Amino acid sequence: DAVQRDALKRLAAEQAVTLIQSGMVVGLGVGSTAIFAIRRIAELLASGELRDIVGVPCALRVEEEAQRLGIPLTTLEEHSQVDLTIDGADEVDPQLNLIKGGGAALLREKIVAQSSRREVIVVDEAKLSPVLGTQWAIPVEVVRFGWGAQARWIASLGAEVALRRQPDGEPLTTDQGNYILDCNFGPIADLTTLATQLSLRTGIVDHGLFLGLATDLIVAGADGIRHIQR
Ligand code: A5P
Repeated sequence: DAVQRDALKRLAAEQAVTLIQSGMVVGLGVGSTAIFAIRRIAELLASGELRDIVGVPCALRVEEEAQRLGIPLTTLEEHSQVDLTIDGADEVDPQLNLIKGGGAALLREKIVAQSSRREVIVVDEAKLSPVLGTQWAIPVEVVRFGWGAQARWIASLGAEVALRRQPDGEPLTTDQGNYILDCNFGPIADLTTLATQLSLRTGIVDHGLFLGLATDLIVAGADGIRHIQR
């Protein structure tokens, strides 16, 4: 149930925080799992067990939360390299490829991931999947102008496409003011080809396939915690 799942998310996230050393630039991920890492980092800073940490937040709401918790923040302009990022994922395959973007933060998350020496993904075991696309639709961030044309084009590639909406029915907008199309392809046989097709299309800003970006996976399950490195 949800309580048990939260406990697993927390275990995985707090295990990841043990990889952080004083002085590091740390990428702060988004979602109900990564928030446990952020809270733990704040505790360790407050107690003095960690010092001189600066965070790079992957969403505006994470920026606000980190500020509230007293974590010093920086940007990719001040620091070109992030030492270690802790982030969640929606679906993870055995090669540590990911679907991300359930929280609509995929663009900033991918920008931070590609600047990180270590990209540590924290999940509970329910998110492990033999083939990406089995559990989740791929979130695709599109500019608002002409979004319907992108939706039709992605549908022509074989997906069921839905514009993501807020609870009030209005289209959800990302931190960049774009829309999200949730694109259900079913299990995806050729991830690289699909990622390339989506990346080359004008009007598509980015997509939630994270291929070859995760260096570490920390999975919490009923049998304990596993740390897998690529
Ligand atoms: C945010 O855009 C996502 O990529 C999240 O990292 C992902 O949805 C995982 O979120 P949860 O930890 O809440 O499942």
